Amino acid sequence: MTYVRACGLSELEEDTPKRVELDGTPVSIVRTEGEVFAINDICSHANVSLSEGEVEDCAIECWLHGSSFDLRTGKPSGLPATRPVPVYPVKIEGDDVLVSVTQES
Ligand code: FES
Repeated sequence: MTYVRACGLSELEEDTPKRVELDGTPVSIVRTEGEVFAINDICSHANVSLSEGEVEDCAIECWLHGSSFDLRTGKPSGLPATRPVPVYPVKIEGDDVLVSVTQES
């Protein structure tokens, strides 16, 4: 599994998603509840950036139609989205947030 640096840990504000591009994949990095998560930045319902949505209860809400995706599993908690969004393994090394987009978890 190959990890690439997504951003610095100190750049992440609690509950404020950060959009990055890793190997051509748009990823939203979210620091919440003492952990860091990486989720594909595109909603599974339409081509909308999830990083512009709100974070609550370890989920990110799509700002367009309101589906929330669990940051641990990528699964939507409600309609209109029915398909999960890919989530990726995260490692913290010092101040570096490393993400593997080659394998979805
Ligand atoms: S575009 Fe995200 S829920 Fe519709």
